[in-house]
Amino acid sequence: TPRKDNPLYALLEQAAAYYRQQLRQHPQRQRAVGYLKGRGLSGQIAKLYDLGLAPPGWNNLMSHLARDTSEEKALVEAGLVVENADSGGRYDRFRDRIMFPIRDSRGRVIGFGGRVLGDEKPKYLNSPETTVFHKGQELYGLFEAKQQNRQLEDILVVEGYMDVIALAQHGVTNAVATLGTATSEDHLKRLFRLVHSVVFCFDGDRAGRQAAWRALNAALPILEDGRHVRFLFLPDGQDPDSMIREEGTDAFRRRMSRDAQPLTDYLFRHLAEEAGADSLEGKAHMAALALPLIEQVPGSLLRRLLRQSLQQQTGVDLDEVVPASLPEQPPS
Ligand code: GTP
Ligand code: MN
Ligand code: MN
Ligand code: MN
Ligand code: MN
Repeated sequence: TPRKDNPLYALLEQAAAYYRQQLRQHPQRQRAVGYLKGRGLSGQIAKLYDLGLAPPGWNNLMSHLARDTSEEKALVEAGLVVENADSGGRYDRFRDRIMFPIRDSRGRVIGFGGRVLGDEKPKYLNSPETTVFHKGQELYGLFEAKQQNRQLEDILVVEGYMDVIALAQHGVTNAVATLGTATSEDHLKRLFRLVHSVVFCFDGDRAGRQAAWRALNAALPILEDGRHVRFLFLPDGQDPDSMIREEGTDAFRRRMSRDAQPLTDYLFRHLAEEAGADSLEGKAHMAALALPLIEQVPGSLLRRLLRQSLQQQTGVDLDEVVPASLPEQPPS
C-alpha cells in the first residue's frame, strides 16, 4: 500500500488543476466547452466532477509541471507522461482530450480518463496502473456520489464516465463506473461497505450484456443475506447517458423500479435460456449449470431459497444429487 505522503498525490492534484485551468483559459477552450454543452452538461456539473482539458501538443503538462529530468520522471510514475522505451523521449500522455479526474473515496486524485472531442481512436484513454491507481479496486464517481448524498441508499454501477456524469446532471447522483475493467469482487466489497443494494445498468449492447453476466459472477461469492444486487437492461443501442437524456429523470427512475431484475431472476432466466429448459435434458443441463453457481453464495438463507427454486423449476430432487458433484462450501 502506498504511503500516506506518496508524492504522486500532490503531482496528480497539480495536473487536475492544470487541466481545469485549461478548460477555462486555453485559446481553443470553446471547442471543448461546446462539446460538453452538446452532451447536455452544465458548468455546474463540470465543476462538480472537476472536468478539464488536455490541450493539443506533446509537452504542455510536462513543461508546466516539470523543471528537470527527475521531475519529468515523477510525471512518468504518475502515469501523466509517457517515456519511449527505445529513445527515452518523454511526452504528455493526454493530448487534445476532455479530462476526467479519478478520485479515491477520500477525494484524492489518483488518475485520469481522457476522451477525444471527435471520432478519433482510442475514444478513451485511462491512466495506467501506478502505485496509487488500482483499476480493479477503484470506482469512478464514488467520491462525488458520497459528496452529493448524505446517506447513500443504493448505488448504480454503469460502464462509462459520461454515464455517471449525465445521470448526475439529471439528478441521479448515486452512479459509479468501473474503469474500463470488469466489475470485480473488490469493487463490490467496497460498495457493500456503503450500501445494501447495488444496481448494475450497463449498455444495451453485446458488450454490456456480457459485462452483466461477468458482474453476476463477481457478485455471487459476496451475496450475504441482506445484500441486494439487481440488473437493469436497457433497450438495444441505449446507455444510461442516452437513456436519461431521451426519456428524462422520472421515466428513468420508473424504469429502475419497474424493470431492474433481482440477480437471482436474471441468473435463472439466463441459464434456462442457455440450457433450453423446456425438455428434461434441458432441465438437467440447467441444474448442472446452476448448482456450482448457487453453491458460491455465502448467504445460507438465500442459498437455500435458490436451491428450492431450482428444484421447483427443474424437478430435480437436489437432496439426492451425489454430494461429490456439489461442493458444500464455497471455494475459498
Ligand atoms: P461516450 O461515447 O463518450 O458516450 O462513451 P461511452 O462510455 O458510452 O463509451 P462505450 O459505451 O463505447 O464504452 C464504455 C466505457 O468503456 C467507456 O466509458 C470507457 O471507460 C471504456 N472505453 C470505451 N472506449 C474505450 C477505448 O477506446 N479505450 C479504453 N481504454 N477504454 C474505452
Ligand atoms: Mn444498514
Ligand atoms: Mn457500449
Ligand atoms: Mn455513451
Ligand atoms: Mn456507452
